[in-house]
Amino acid sequence: EKGGYDYFMLKEIAEQPKAVADTLLGRIDVSGALTLDEVRIPVAELREVDKVVIVACGTAFHAGLIAKYAIEHWTRIPCEVELASEFRYRDPILGARSLVIAISQSGETMDTLMALRHAREQGSKVLAICNTNGSTIPRESDAVLYTHAGPEVAVASTKAFLTQLVACYLVALYLGQVRGTQWGDEIRAVVRDLARISGEVERVLETMEPVRELARSLAGKDTVLFLGRHVGYPVALEGALKLKELAYMHAEGFAAGELKHGPIALIEEDLPVVVVVPSPRGRSVLHDKIVSNIQEIRARGARTIVIAEEGDEEVVPYADHLVRIPVTPTLLQPLVATVPLQVFACELATARGNEVDQPRNLAKSVTVE
Ligand code: F6R
Repeated sequence: EKGGYDYFMLKEIAEQPKAVADTLLGRIDVSGALTLDEVRIPVAELREVDKVVIVACGTAFHAGLIAKYAIEHWTRIPCEVELASEFRYRDPILGARSLVIAISQSGETMDTLMALRHAREQGSKVLAICNTNGSTIPRESDAVLYTHAGPEVAVASTKAFLTQLVACYLVALYLGQVRGTQWGDEIRAVVRDLARISGEVERVLETMEPVRELARSLAGKDTVLFLGRHVGYPVALEGALKLKELAYMHAEGFAAGELKHGPIALIEEDLPVVVVVPSPRGRSVLHDKIVSNIQEIRARGARTIVIAEEGDEEVVPYADHLVRIPVTPTLLQPLVATVPLQVFACELATARGNEVDQPRNLAKSVTVE
């Protein structure tokens, strides 16, 4: 049941801190090492992996796009991410040393299932990241890492997405751990940060009233654009997908670096543009680039909605609306940056009178092509 919330989606958004914590539970030991014995692929085989290919659809695909940054950074193994519906009809180059990761909340998505069969036929090992115990995708995979989001009822995926991210980080860090990369210290630090992240998600949820107010004020708009860089780019794609499916608005996510290659032509007076800003610490080049992107679109009239870390003062002069998120390591930022976008889409949909849990034309699990 909805537990006092008007919609399942609101309940599931609120459940995210617990979903994240549950997905981490028992998978990190007291020394900060990852214990993923449940992934029944022998460590010797994981050490030999020379390529990771992630297949998924929709929101799960966005989790995969974020995973690529983490996997390549922490393991130095090349990683590709592909829509399952494209992958299954190509001749992908795979072998016995390729690890294919199939991400699916329901475990029943037809295209993802067909993609994993396609991969296994070519001798690759398949690891499923799945939220539904005993569903078809994990049954047909070599190994499974379950997300522990609990049942997700609303059609639009929220808590499953955050737990898919957690599972992807665990896999990336585990691969890094078994292979012993140069990033040992960083991996240990990130594991500590992950253990704290559910509290940070909780803090974001506590500060969402201004986001709801903003969403209501934009209910009459036709278009919202989303920009991001690095892991903020898939977050932008996810924000746009949520808005399309729930608010039935034209919404698009772009890599901010692509602005000048076309999308900037869309900017006009008072067009809402949500910008996901990377942390000013660490890879600060990314931060500087996006600050100039915000200046550029604002100079052309955009109404900027800036999602930025606490303490990031540089963005303040260019933000028409500022949404603060807690300080996190760059690669983990999507866990906190996605939450305001979910709340934004849910509230905008409600303000437009849409049925939030059952958007038109959509089904919770797509078991046909
Ligand atoms: C969007 C959404 C869909 C699913 C996609 C994959 O909010 O829910 O895009 O993410 O249909 O579904 P699963 O993860 O069940 O394979």
